[in-house]
Amino acid sequence: MCGIIGYIGNRNAAEVLVRGLHKLEYRGYDSAGICVFSKGHLDVIKTKGRLDKLEQRLSGTSLESTLGLGHTRWATHGEPNDINSHPHLSQNGKIAVVHNGIIENYRQIKEFLCDKGVEFQSETDTEVIAQLLAYHYKGDVMRALMTTLGELEGAYALGVMCADYPDEFFAARKDSPLIIGLGKGENFIASDIPAILEYTRDIIIMEDREIVHITRGQAKLYDLLGKTVKRGVFHVDWDAEAAEKGGYEHFMIKEISEEPRAVRAAISPRIRDGLIDTGLSALSDNWVRNIKKIHIIACGTAYHAGLVGKYAIEKVARIPVEADLASEFRYREPIVRKGDLAVVISQSGETLDTLMGLREARKRGAKILSIVNVVGSSIARESDAVIYTWAGPEISVCSTKAYNTQLAALFSLAYDLGFRKGKLSFAGMMAAAKSLLGLPELIEKVLLNREIIQKFSAQHFNAQSVFYIGRGIDFALSSEGSLKLKEISYIHSEAYAGGELKHGTIALIEKGTLVICPITQDNLLEKTLSNVREVKARGAVVMAVTPERLAGAVSDVADAVITIPDTDSIFAPIIAVTPLQLFAYYVSVMRGNDVDKPRNLAKSVTVE
Ligand code: G6P
Repeated sequence: MCGIIGYIGNRNAAEVLVRGLHKLEYRGYDSAGICVFSKGHLDVIKTKGRLDKLEQRLSGTSLESTLGLGHTRWATHGEPNDINSHPHLSQNGKIAVVHNGIIENYRQIKEFLCDKGVEFQSETDTEVIAQLLAYHYKGDVMRALMTTLGELEGAYALGVMCADYPDEFFAARKDSPLIIGLGKGENFIASDIPAILEYTRDIIIMEDREIVHITRGQAKLYDLLGKTVKRGVFHVDWDAEAAEKGGYEHFMIKEISEEPRAVRAAISPRIRDGLIDTGLSALSDNWVRNIKKIHIIACGTAYHAGLVGKYAIEKVARIPVEADLASEFRYREPIVRKGDLAVVISQSGETLDTLMGLREARKRGAKILSIVNVVGSSIARESDAVIYTWAGPEISVCSTKAYNTQLAALFSLAYDLGFRKGKLSFAGMMAAAKSLLGLPELIEKVLLNREIIQKFSAQHFNAQSVFYIGRGIDFALSSEGSLKLKEISYIHSEAYAGGELKHGTIALIEKGTLVICPITQDNLLEKTLSNVREVKARGAVVMAVTPERLAGAVSDVADAVITIPDTDSIFAPIIAVTPLQLFAYYVSVMRGNDVDKPRNLAKSVTVE
């Protein structure tokens, strides 16, 4: 969480920083601040609230500076208020720090420094870094930084300025993302590429335990012992516009509208001569043929994609799959054996719980295949093989197109594994490839129906509580539908397996309770319709999402039916999720919520 940016060049630093922070606000938006080098000292302006508040504060000032750091915060230590906002200054005003991550041993360091007479202003773990740096600083920031980093435990992406250094700044990372942007006579650091894309496309992706020393003319990388590190420059080839709203009211609706294109980009490079190839041979064909078990590790929406993946892989490739929330996997002493495959799913490739889950799986002997959207992210770099989802930048905190593309990758993987393991005929593989290639067009058709969903949302946006029920793969899909609704509408919502309702949850159904029910699996139609009847008998209003071929049977029972085009039932979630995303979107808009930046959330969760 939190977004950081740093700049040195010839432009007005405050302007560059604030523009960049706008692109990083998805990472946290409790408070924001900047520090610029001005008239021989470090000037900090920061405030609780969104960036517009910071801009108001800045509008009355004339900060003539060409060097600075900026930060947008998602609070972890200490409530969001002006004092806890970043940047943090050391007591002597010499050192300024912006930080993304969590310093786990900050209490011990704070006690140590308090004993030395240091007085702290904030409740944050970050201020500890600024004070510790000042404590170690004897005229050489690089040396002080190396000593300080050696004493920190936890995760950090840091930007550091020193009042004695008017023409340079420093940055470092461990377990939190940080990139360097290389311009002509100007250089940048940022938590993510869109923040600096309007100035440069030449990027260096920093690795863990590295420090960079940045001047106008160059960015020099070092390891923690001060040894020079060489790294290639990565040229970004996607357009800055991909990270702009482009005429849409919100990023979320723009990103839902991009689903057909994104799914096409995720699938088509993997189909060659009618066969699906996800690049598994990077793990060696023989190894893949002998995979005993698959562990899917992910968080949030990516975890829900993983639940669908479990159904698909078990069905097609007949390999046992366990899907774990990354935060649980890591601490439950999972049974992972040599010869197991861990499939790690993450849009950002930086979610700390997921990254730690990956390391746990590797430590226990698994090989790692990741399904990741952000190229060059930590999870991608630490994997043995990567399936990139090619969804393009996803800015809305509420994830949409990333999910569809994760499903596309997982379905491709299921068939690729099945074929390699001899569970699938050549003809079966060709047919699956053809169906996969047809999915983008089917999502386009769903999007044409958005007004029906909008109308339904208008009838229900005041709901108190919404249940999602489904069976089999539709239960996995329901979990995602429910998450979408709760995160942006703030309406209480739960997903239940249809057959489980009678064991407790049905007690919550009363007259008028909204129940949303995806029914996409032919073999489960009758069983699911029985569940619909059960909740309707208790007064529920039921909206079903179902393919055209089942619509007749479903509309006899449900109050409203959203039809989706027919496809092989295994692929249905990739199409059926879109109406669920649209429903959550319209409800959120109608409730007047901040759709792209829901309360208490952040897009990229780089803390445990
Ligand atoms: C956060 C986001 C979710 C996302 C989850 C995992 O909670 O708000 O939308 O699904 O992190 O993110 P990842 O980048 O690992 O897919």
